[in-house]
Parts: sequence; C-alpha cells; structure tokens
Amino acid sequence: HKIETLLCRGVKTQHTAAAAQMKTVNKVKHDEKEKEGGKSLYDVQVERQQQAERSVLISCPSRTNKERFLKHLLKYGDIKTHFFYESIGVYAVVEFSSKEGVASILERASIPSVSHESMVPFKSRVLSLRNLDKISNQQSSIQLQPQSSASTNELIQRLSREKSFDQQITSLAESYQLTEENTRLRFLVCSLLKDVAAPFFPECTIKPFGSSVNGFGKMGCDLDMFLDLDGISGRKVKQPKLGLSLEYQMKMVNTERRVTQSILSVIGECLIQFGPGCEGVQKILNARCPLVRFNHQPSGLQCDLTANNRVAMKSTELLHLYSELDPRVRQLVFTVRCWARTHGITSKIPGAWITNFSLTMMVLFFLQKRSPPIIPTLDQLRDLADPEDKCNIEGNDCTFVSIPSKIQLKGNTETMENLLGEFFEFYGTFSYTNMSINIRKGKEQNKPEVSPLHIQNPFEISLNVAKNVNASQLERFVSLCRESAWLLQHAHDKSPSSLSGSGGPQPWGLATLLQPSQIAAIKRRTRTSQGPVRQTLKSWVESLK
Ligand code: CTP
Ligand code: MG
Repeated sequence: HKIETLLCRGVKTQHTAAAAQMKTVNKVKHDEKEKEGGKSLYDVQVERQQQAERSVLISCPSRTNKERFLKHLLKYGDIKTHFFYESIGVYAVVEFSSKEGVASILERASIPSVSHESMVPFKSRVLSLRNLDKISNQQSSIQLQPQSSASTNELIQRLSREKSFDQQITSLAESYQLTEENTRLRFLVCSLLKDVAAPFFPECTIKPFGSSVNGFGKMGCDLDMFLDLDGISGRKVKQPKLGLSLEYQMKMVNTERRVTQSILSVIGECLIQFGPGCEGVQKILNARCPLVRFNHQPSGLQCDLTANNRVAMKSTELLHLYSELDPRVRQLVFTVRCWARTHGITSKIPGAWITNFSLTMMVLFFLQKRSPPIIPTLDQLRDLADPEDKCNIEGNDCTFVSIPSKIQLKGNTETMENLLGEFFEFYGTFSYTNMSINIRKGKEQNKPEVSPLHIQNPFEISLNVAKNVNASQLERFVSLCRESAWLLQHAHDKSPSSLSGSGGPQPWGLATLLQPSQIAAIKRRTRTSQGPVRQTLKSWVESLK
C-alpha cells in the first residue's frame, strides 16, 4: 500500500509517511532550518546526530529512476527524507523514520562478489545500489542537490541583479551558507566515522565543530570533527566512598597528549585499512592539536579528526551564539570571508596567510567596537552566565551564558553598507604594531609578543590565533582593506544600473568589491590621483608610522 501511494501521488498519498515525504521534502527541509533558529548548539547536535544515525549513504548508477529506487528502499522501512547529490558519481542520503530501517538494510545488503581482487570485510552504512535487470532504467528523474557554492563569477552576476546593497549582502550569505542537505551530510560522515571508532570505544561520539556548525560555514568548507570520549575519560566519574567496588584495569601513559595520539593513530589506521571511501589519510600526530586528515570521497568532504579538543568545541559554541544574536553578524562574516577568498587573502592551503577563523574574530571584535556595540564582549557574556554554564577546561575559563534571551542588545541600527565600509577603514588603519585584538575585553590590548598580527584566543588566552600570519600577508590584507574602503566611498557604481555590454547586469556595489580588476584599478588610481585621496593616503602613512 505504501509503495502504491508513494508512486501514484494521489489523494491517498497524504496519509502515508512514505508518500508524504515525496511531496513535502522541501517543507521538511524548511522546517528543519526553522526549528534550528534559537536552539543551543548542544540541542542542534543531539538532534542532528540522531538524524544521522537513522541514515545511510547509497551510491547510485547515474540513470537511477527515483521512484523505483524509493520503492525498493521502502522494503526496509519508512523513509523520513532523502536527497541525491553528485560527488564521484551520484549518491543518495536516505533517512529512515527509525533505526530499524538501517538495521534491516544492513542485515539484507549483500557482499560484493569480486574475482580479481580481495575485499576488506568491513560493513558500513555506505552502500551501492546494484541494478541487475537486463533492461536499462528509464530516464533518470533524479534532482541533484548542489554540494558546492556558486563560482565567483556566478555570484557577481547574482549580486549585480539585486536592488540594494543590503540585499546584495543578504544574497551573498544565502548563496554561500551551508544548505540543509550539506549539514545532514556532515553529520552523517561523523556518524559513519563513529561506527569505525565504536568497536574500541562504544561510548564515544564524533561531533562536528568549527565552521560546519558555528553558523559561519560556507559550502565546501572542511569538516572538523572531534572524537568525544568524555564518558570514559575519568573526568566525570564519581568515586565510591565506602565498601567494595570494581574498576577497569586500564593502560597508563604519561600524558593526555600521548593518549590522544594513540587513539588517533589507531582510528587513522582503521580508516586507512577499512574505511570505505576514506582516501589520502594522513596522521598528523605531532601537531599542537594532533589530528587525522583525510578526504571522504563519497561526501566529497575534506575531513580533520581530532580528539580531546574540548576548548575548540567551546569556541564553536561561542561563535554559534554570536552568529544568532544579530543577522548582521553572519552577513558581515560571510561577506568578509568571501571578499578575502576572492582576493587571495585566505587560501584552502595552510600557510602564512590569515585564516577564516582569524577573520571571524576580527569581524566580531569590530562589531564589539561599534557605538553602540552590536554584540557584547566575552567578559560580558561570562558575567551573564548561570551556575550551570560554568566551565573550566584544563585551567581555561570557558564560562559564558548559554541562553541567548538573557543577552540584551544595545539597539545599533547601522546598515550593512556602512558596517562593511567601516570594517575596511577600521582594519585599514588598525595599530597592528602595538595592539592585540581581544574579543574577551572588546578592546585592543597591548601586544604580548612580536608576531605581526595578534588575536588572542578567547579561551586559551596565552595563544595567538593568528600566530601563523607573516608581515607580508598582513600587509596585503591591510592594503586590500584600504583599497576596498576607497572603492566603497568613491565608486560610481553605487546603485543597480543597466545591462553591461555582454548583456548581463553591470556589476555594482558589493559585486564590484569582489572583482580583483576593480581593486587593481584603485591601486593605480590611488598612486596617481590628488585631493582627498592624498589626504587619506597621508593618514594611512601616519597610521603606519
Ligand atoms: N581553532 C582555534 N584556534 C586556531 C584555529 C582553529 O581554536 N588557531 C578552532 C576554532 O574553533 C575553529 C576550529 O578550530 O572554528 C576549526 O578551525 P578551522 O577549520 O581552521 O576554522 P573554521 O572556523 O572551521 O573555518 P573554515 O571554514 O576555514 O574551515
Ligand atoms: Mg574548518
């Protein structure tokens, strides 16, 4: 009955969960995102983890017929939602209504038959759909959900069609932010990885952190994960006071870092030896924060797995809280990240350049410095904390309020256009030589060390988030801020206009700022022109001094 109703999409369909999901996938997606607004990161994580545990990842032949595929899957259980996307080939993520659906698939899926190779007998929730019929499938009816953001050119076109600068900024954030499907895929990869770790550590969870969940993730950003063994770390264990009791015998090593390294080494080795689709696995165990880096081919995600990284989880929570306080926070972070990437200020490859995390800190600091401030300082958030928010990790005070409604904002009404211009001015003239950026105090502090750019880590306060940045990369950033500030102030293309020569809309406003050629023109112009520009240049020179 379910299969029939699923396929005929008639009146009856509304009464079955299976058919309803065919019709209301979009609504579900919308509702999921809606529900997330205002929730704590912890609650979001728990819900998303459960969703992921009910899901499987299936590689499909490219001409798969959707109806036939779903009809087959309904044999295992009711489907809550599903979507298709392209990685290396077409894949489907299918979420069942309950975990029994997954169990049923795993019980009934067959083992691949191989003749020339030998397979590693490790079963996972990454499966392949086989079509053993002689007749080929009908035309594919699959709609693929994009898993990467638009190219810069497409973005510029899209922004140029908007009617106001603020709409351009909203549009940029919308086209770059993680989609519902991409978020599901990220949690599913964590859950698949947990299946690899679970035989050794059944109580563990693997949680995403960083930009996958902090509200500032862009499509295509890496997936930072954290193997959480808190349940068995001994930290939360209550020791019995009297009488007999039993405890586990456990191997002892001299430092917690050694424990982290051993665990990651084993999981890394499992991924190398057994992990379906885990390619290019590197164990980077001597880093300050040991990690296993690999490419998860079925999802197309670049993954970093860490362990014992609770402070990073806290900073993710903090960023998530800030991102929810005012829409302008996310909008400015997205705009600045996109602008920096377009002009080669940031890069996917690690190096001496500014990272997205540093840029985010810089945006937050700038928003704290507005008058009136748009967001509170970290010290103010700490003062608002309830007793249950109290948190100390390895001697670092990580306490801050967890309920957003306790935070009173100060009524700043600046437009995004103004804020972006001011951001460029602020960092085009910031006193990098002497001062450190500090979101805990919301005020620049004397620099404790000589690195060109100093941004205090909000929780591990002796660390500089931007320690990797060298002088020439900082200089490039500062020049670009100045040129962009100039362009925003003086550009003629400050409003939408007619079609360009090529027939597309003429880039204007924010779109112009994303064009490297425009910035190059400013460079030339500022070198030669007179008047107010001279004046601005003079003040830049002053600030450099
Ligand atoms: N982190 C940190 N200190 C650093 C670098 C990173 O505390 N110097 C933490 C932050 O919580 C950060 C997370 O590790 O969000 C992940 O780092 P990274 O992947 O570099 O940054 P993302 O914020 O995830 O940004 P991106 O989109 O570039 O991955
Ligand atoms: Mg990241």
